[in-house]
Amino acid sequence: MVNYNAVHADDSADHFIGQPPPKKRTSPWIRIGLPVLVAILVIVGAVLGGVLGSRAARDNNNSSSSSSSGSDGDTAPSDPSAVASVKNDIGLFPTSSNTEFSIPLYPSTTNGAAFSTPTVNSQLAWPKDTFAPSSPAPTSVREDRPRLFAPKQKWDALPDFIKQDPYMKSWDKTIQDYANSLLDQGPVAYYMDGDSGILDISREVKQRVKALSYTYRMTTDTKFVDRVYLELQSAAGNSEGSTFTETDRWNSAHFLDTAEMAMAFGIAYDWLHDVWTDDQKTTIRAAINDHALTYGVDALNNNAWWTQNIRGNWNCVCNAGLTVASLAIIDEDDAGHASALLGLTIDNAKQNCAMAVSSDGTWAETPNYWYFGTMGHAEMANALITATGSDYELMTVNPDFKKTGEFHMHVYGATSMFEYGDHGPNKFSSTANSIMFYGDYYNIPQYSLFQRDRWDAAEPWAMFWYNPGLTGAYWDGKEVDGFFDDDLDQWVAMRSSWTDQNAVYVGMKAGSLQGHQTHNDLDVGDFVLDAMGTRWAGEFGSGDYLSTDYFASQAQDAVRWTYYRKETQGQNTLVIGGNNQLVTATPKILNKGSSGTKQGSSTVMPWEGTAFWVVDMTSAYDATSVKRGVRMFNNRRQVLIQDEVNSSAGVQWTMHTNATVSTDGTKATLERDGKTLQMEILSPSGASFTTTPSTGGDKDQPNPGITTVMITLDAGSNDIQVLFSPQWGSDVELKTPKSVALDDWSLDSHDS
Ligand SMILES: *[C@@H]1O[C@H](CO)[C@@H](O)[C@H](O)[C@H]1NC(C)=O
Ligand SMILES: *[C@@H]1O[C@H](CO)[C@@H](O)[C@H](O)[C@H]1NC(C)=O
Ligand SMILES: *[C@@H]1O[C@H](CO)[C@@H](O)[C@H](O)[C@H]1NC(C)=O
Repeated sequence: MVNYNAVHADDSADHFIGQPPPKKRTSPWIRIGLPVLVAILVIVGAVLGGVLGSRAARDNNNSSSSSSSGSDGDTAPSDPSAVASVKNDIGLFPTSSNTEFSIPLYPSTTNGAAFSTPTVNSQLAWPKDTFAPSSPAPTSVREDRPRLFAPKQKWDALPDFIKQDPYMKSWDKTIQDYANSLLDQGPVAYYMDGDSGILDISREVKQRVKALSYTYRMTTDTKFVDRVYLELQSAAGNSEGSTFTETDRWNSAHFLDTAEMAMAFGIAYDWLHDVWTDDQKTTIRAAINDHALTYGVDALNNNAWWTQNIRGNWNCVCNAGLTVASLAIIDEDDAGHASALLGLTIDNAKQNCAMAVSSDGTWAETPNYWYFGTMGHAEMANALITATGSDYELMTVNPDFKKTGEFHMHVYGATSMFEYGDHGPNKFSSTANSIMFYGDYYNIPQYSLFQRDRWDAAEPWAMFWYNPGLTGAYWDGKEVDGFFDDDLDQWVAMRSSWTDQNAVYVGMKAGSLQGHQTHNDLDVGDFVLDAMGTRWAGEFGSGDYLSTDYFASQAQDAVRWTYYRKETQGQNTLVIGGNNQLVTATPKILNKGSSGTKQGSSTVMPWEGTAFWVVDMTSAYDATSVKRGVRMFNNRRQVLIQDEVNSSAGVQWTMHTNATVSTDGTKATLERDGKTLQMEILSPSGASFTTTPSTGGDKDQPNPGITTVMITLDAGSNDIQVLFSPQWGSDVELKTPKSVALDDWSLDSHDS
């Protein structure tokens, strides 16, 4: 089990930062075993013992019950000094090992004092950087080193913060454990991996170099410097026995590989500048120049494809790697590439990378590509600020960029992400820590508070991007529903709670099918559904990136749209006439509403309110009219999905699930993780569920264990209503909504 945040938890497994823990298939409470259960009780005990009376303890310290126990809020007065120390008292939250994204497991408590309004205590925050040039220029770097990400004064302040802050303490330990584990391992094996080149290798080198360089600076033990150099020499093709003869060793034809390697070398060069020998410095600079910067100058001067109208991760990652490497060596660069690049990358990233966030905060590619793109953006902006004193408007040129943390938080469901479209390659050091940087820069503490509880926070950027002066709970006062209306993506997220792993969460999207860097699926109307700690309706993610013409085109007849995971048939939506959706679709949001429900400071969220979203999907089909609506029902305990279709071809309602499904006419019973959810067709009468294994075709990847649940209907006018009822148990009354036409949906249209 890999559990970065739970300091008390069993951490016997390898600490390999940046790799999601393997998904396990049992209940978290069983799987995480005794150590974490003890930890939770200790945590709850500490919170309640320190701040609250004993009544709430009796109500809430049963870790195996859901937070739906309905206990009323405890209004114990909050003693300010207790509140200030409560971060320490609480310690860290364990993370679930049975969800793909290791959702934090919050103790169920109505302790409002522990989870207060997000604020920054400036006395505990970082000291201000003394380097503040009056007229910053990209090529004019600070004199002291490190100049990138973490100036000396931050390193100097770090040991005390690590002592005081349980998060920083745990991240520091994870990073140092990881660095130590690398000491007896050889460098990352260097080989060309088919068409995808050395991207994984570059990213792993970067991840290792960051942790090793960090650990050297924290310990001053030069064995970490030697280990960094071993990694760099291998990656530069300088090791004895290296088979490299060509200069283009970092695969500039797939420039991400080059850029990530350049970033790794830039960080190592800068952070260890005071211990490298002159020979080592010359060797590292030569590698940066020969294998990256020369190709970078060429790419930007000759308008390489990723420099032109690319609103996505490629532009961010490539410009960021070149910028960081250039800043690292600029004052020692005889070749002049570094200063040439700093005259090119910033404007290019402002026109492209910074514009990959839509007006509503959504990342233009997909929720997974957001990681790569925002990480590159944050690294580039932060490196420019620390090294030269300005971000040159990379952070503000797109006024909506600051909303992208909201996108990430809402796309993060109760068990997993609403992970539509392609997922991208292994992330390694592309974590969600970009939102810690954004949280601090834009003064949105919720972003950092959200991320600090996540398993992927534990890597060196967190040590500098997290603000140790933060206190409070990200969910305090936060609306549970999120509506994202930009035409590019149009999507909604509704949930019953931010902190209950058993919460009901529904994400549904419409939006344009093109304009996502060919990472989209034909998926207008697609949805995911979580309840009771389980994902019931889910996504397939990426197809095989190496399959024929996977990225070649996004036209209607593109080969991409013949792969099961990308075609409409492979989505949780309607298929009409057996055809794919039309790539020209321009769906329209017809109506939406939310009770405006906000979570309070408590992790115990009452089941209340509703939300709904109705979209016109007609333009995605060869049909007269197609509308889809989704709503929370019965105080968010149940979900209704309704479609109104007029078509001259037959309709297939489709959903994919990891659950075991048994059908009985209008009902389907789904079982997973020891939980049960029932689906019922309320309309049209006479329709019934069928199932089939989600095999796809010969050229598709297998989808083991996935079942397609379908309703097959004739041409004509169809009103399809499917009710999803998690089987909560005898204390929750399940209801059947009345039938209301989509045009008449409102907040109270389904009451009574
Ligand atoms: C804890 O909650 C579970 C589930 O609600 C229940 O079965 C169990 O009896 C409770 N235990 C205690 C000690 O209250
Ligand atoms: C099935 O489970 C896997 C692993 O958790 C997940 O990645 C995938 O999205 C799920 N698929 C569906 C169709 O729910
Ligand atoms: C759908 O078909 C029904 C029945 O033929 C008709 O009454 C209705 O007006 C149609 N709606 C749309 C939006 O085409």
